[in-house]
Amino acid sequence: MPTNEASRLVPDDGNVMKVLLTGATGYIGSAVSDHLAAAGHQVVGLTRGGEPHPSWHARLIGDTAEPASLAGVVTPDIEGVIHLAPPSGDVDVDTAAIEALAAPLRGTGRPFVYTSGVWVLGATGEAQEVDEESPTDPIGIVGYRPRIEQRVLAETAEGVRAVVVRPGIVYGRGGGIPAILVDRARSQGVPEYFGEEGVRWPTVHVDDLAELFVAAVERAGAGTVWHGVGESATPVRDLARAAGRAAGVLAAPHVLSVERTAEEFGPLFADALALDQSVSGAAARAALGWQPAGPGAVAELVSGSYRPVEVFGAPEGPETDAEVAAIRRLVAEIEHAQQNELVDRFLSVFRREDPVWTTGHGKRLSGFEEIAAFTHKVLPGAMAESTAVYDVERVLFLRPDVAAVNVRQQPVRHDGSRIADQPEGRPFYVLVKEDGAWRVGAAQNTVAVD
Ligand SMILES: NC(=O)c1ccc[n+]([C@@H]2O[C@H](COP(=O)([O-])OP(=O)(O)OC[C@H]3O[C@@H](n4cnc5c(N)ncnc54)[C@H](OP(=O)(O)O)[C@@H]3O)[C@@H](O)[C@H]2O)c1
Repeated sequence: MPTNEASRLVPDDGNVMKVLLTGATGYIGSAVSDHLAAAGHQVVGLTRGGEPHPSWHARLIGDTAEPASLAGVVTPDIEGVIHLAPPSGDVDVDTAAIEALAAPLRGTGRPFVYTSGVWVLGATGEAQEVDEESPTDPIGIVGYRPRIEQRVLAETAEGVRAVVVRPGIVYGRGGGIPAILVDRARSQGVPEYFGEEGVRWPTVHVDDLAELFVAAVERAGAGTVWHGVGESATPVRDLARAAGRAAGVLAAPHVLSVERTAEEFGPLFADALALDQSVSGAAARAALGWQPAGPGAVAELVSGSYRPVEVFGAPEGPETDAEVAAIRRLVAEIEHAQQNELVDRFLSVFRREDPVWTTGHGKRLSGFEEIAAFTHKVLPGAMAESTAVYDVERVLFLRPDVAAVNVRQQPVRHDGSRIADQPEGRPFYVLVKEDGAWRVGAAQNTVAVD
């Protein structure tokens, strides 16, 4: 089995590389393009005819299902290849594509990074997190992929720095398989998940995964395999409930049997959706210095890219996105603290200096001490019967460091279902950014009567 010992790593000498990327227009490929470019590398994107990504240095046309079309794409100036294009379904075709892409690198020690996936591990059972040393046991949809992995790793003997990355279920940027959960919740009117109640997916944020590809092409050792997993075993029931939030569907998640899932998605994908796995991404953290930082999959679904908010008063761009994300995290903290009756965490969202809060019942609280006294009195025990969810709907930047935020508050049961006969609230927050953190300066909650 390949190992991931730090001693086998190639030193990071800070060299900028020209990297050929297949699958470069895709969901993961777009993020990898961004992160490679941000790290200073030149991306040569291979596509069957898609538009070039803004971060590419150059575009090449090729079709990995037609390996003959790949002849000559890996020119002598290509210093590394990341192969992200999906399998064709034919082991011989995929092997020929690997051959065409890897052969020009032989004897150079240059990296060839192949993208597999955690589904090659099969169901991991109740055991602890499975690592890269575990044997493969692929489910049908990836039946021959371990053989392709071995074919890639065999290039090590030919003087190629051959590396395999196995991503978990990728989320973020509003896409990936979790987007299917959001669409299903919307179309079915109830959040759904698949197979059995306890199913868990290893998950990874697409931007974290992209960082792992950068680390792999820069410095992973020859013959190594890495699990691209941020959270080892995310309960899919929780993902489904969060997907319901993203879809605006507040209901307890419903589990669809494998048989019914197969009718909807086909038997091969149904088995994948119902696969229960717990997979460790610790090796890449320890040996490659990979630091997944993105929000968890549930948080991303509830208050991230799957549910955009209206933003006014600030230019479009990554800086505004980052501020809006920070504001949404603050509102998520309000929800979490309230749902779990955490008085101190609830109070920590308020500014210390002269905050004001008018409650949904019209009680006006002035100053931190008054708000603290009120919270200590009313929050403990308040969530025994039911709770509420808070969704940011609109952010108006009055100044770069002052934001007016419209929130939708809906009463829910503890299973996440909407309590139909209780009215919504319309919290309105004036937030202030001080010392790098957003805090509530003023808040008013109003019951929505229609
Ligand atoms: N998404 C996940 O959760 C996940 C998890 C584990 C592993 N993976 C693996 O990661 C890889 C990328 O996944 P993804 O989700 O980013 O897929 P994707 O969004 O479907 O993107 C794949 C890209 O590959 C290109 N492509 C497709 N067929 C091709 C062909 N015959 N020749 C050349 N290019 C082709 C397409 O670009 P053009 O149309 O421009 O040619 C497409 O944009 C796949 O191997 C997948 O199995 C994905």
